[in-house]
Amino acid sequence: MFADNKTGITNLTLNAELMSQTTGNFSQRVLDWYDQHGRKHLPWQQDITPYRVWISEIMLQQTQVKTVIPYFETFMERFPDVHTLASAPVDDALHLWSGLGYYSRARNLHKAACQVVERFNGEFPQSIDLLTELPGIGRSTAGAIASISMGIRAPILDGNVKRVLARHHAIAGWPGQSAIANKLWEIAEHHTPRERLPQYTQAMMDLGAMICTRTRPTCHICPLQESCMTHAIGDTSVYPGKKPKKTLPERQIRMLMVVNHLGEVLLQKRPSQGIWGGLWSFPEQEINDEIASDIVGIPLCNLETWTPFRHTFSHYHLDITPVKAFTVEETQRLPEDNPMRWISIDTPGNLGLAAPVTKLLRKLTKSL
Ligand code: ADE
Repeated sequence: MFADNKTGITNLTLNAELMSQTTGNFSQRVLDWYDQHGRKHLPWQQDITPYRVWISEIMLQQTQVKTVIPYFETFMERFPDVHTLASAPVDDALHLWSGLGYYSRARNLHKAACQVVERFNGEFPQSIDLLTELPGIGRSTAGAIASISMGIRAPILDGNVKRVLARHHAIAGWPGQSAIANKLWEIAEHHTPRERLPQYTQAMMDLGAMICTRTRPTCHICPLQESCMTHAIGDTSVYPGKKPKKTLPERQIRMLMVVNHLGEVLLQKRPSQGIWGGLWSFPEQEINDEIASDIVGIPLCNLETWTPFRHTFSHYHLDITPVKAFTVEETQRLPEDNPMRWISIDTPGNLGLAAPVTKLLRKLTKSL
């Protein structure tokens, strides 16, 4: 066994023997597989320059290849080289980024382009340390730029490669933890060949994306199958280890679903900052407050509390108790500056609604 079950960290000294047995062979098998099956026609694999590889690698962070391709092509037409990008207003780069998300990537691209021009005379530095000094370039992106566009022997360790290596060596623990990542970097370094660096880097990415996928990897066609420890165990869900679940704080609220004599429901536009910013939702109450007997001065009757349900955000759980209520009297129109509106219950038009509100409106319609 190579993984230490107590610490969850593989002992590399124990692994040295296995590594030396498989190293030459590991990269050779990966390269042979790449020659037959790897991707060779992606736009950034044509006319390879450090600038083009850099732009593609930044775009490909958190974004799929098929989404990136048209953005990459448009970006290259507008900014064919680092000088053009550095001398353009940052807003032009942001504009072309529109729809890709994570806009700090575009701001960092522009900053880094200015630094490449000012500090390095427009030439990308040929060292991992100098590349990682540029905004937005981490160790793995630097490795990809250096190996793919300069043929430098530098490992990469993006999400796909972490998965391939963690499975191949049965490295327990979550790769987001620095101790685990350090082990994986050592292994990545160890396997990196001395030749055909551009192909090897692309091959490792492709293996992760095409064969050693997160769910249902196709081990029977994997070139690493015979030495893969996870394959030997027979359960690919074990490695890499999952991110530990954090316990999220909980908040409890009541949502008031107030219906008037016309069958309209009261909705409220949420402030632009915060959860469901700018979307429409039901008026809310803290759960510990006494249940409302009126709203905006209108008395309520026939209150009915529904079963609570949970809506989870990335940073907390929201426990929602829906309360259906009717207005006692005929309701007046609300003034225009009031953030609440009476909305026709089954045709809320093209209002942006918070997800649980859509669900509740449907149930409310059925209940009337
Ligand atoms: N993801 C990150 N870099 C990539 C590349 N060069 N090709 C395909 N997917 C990638």
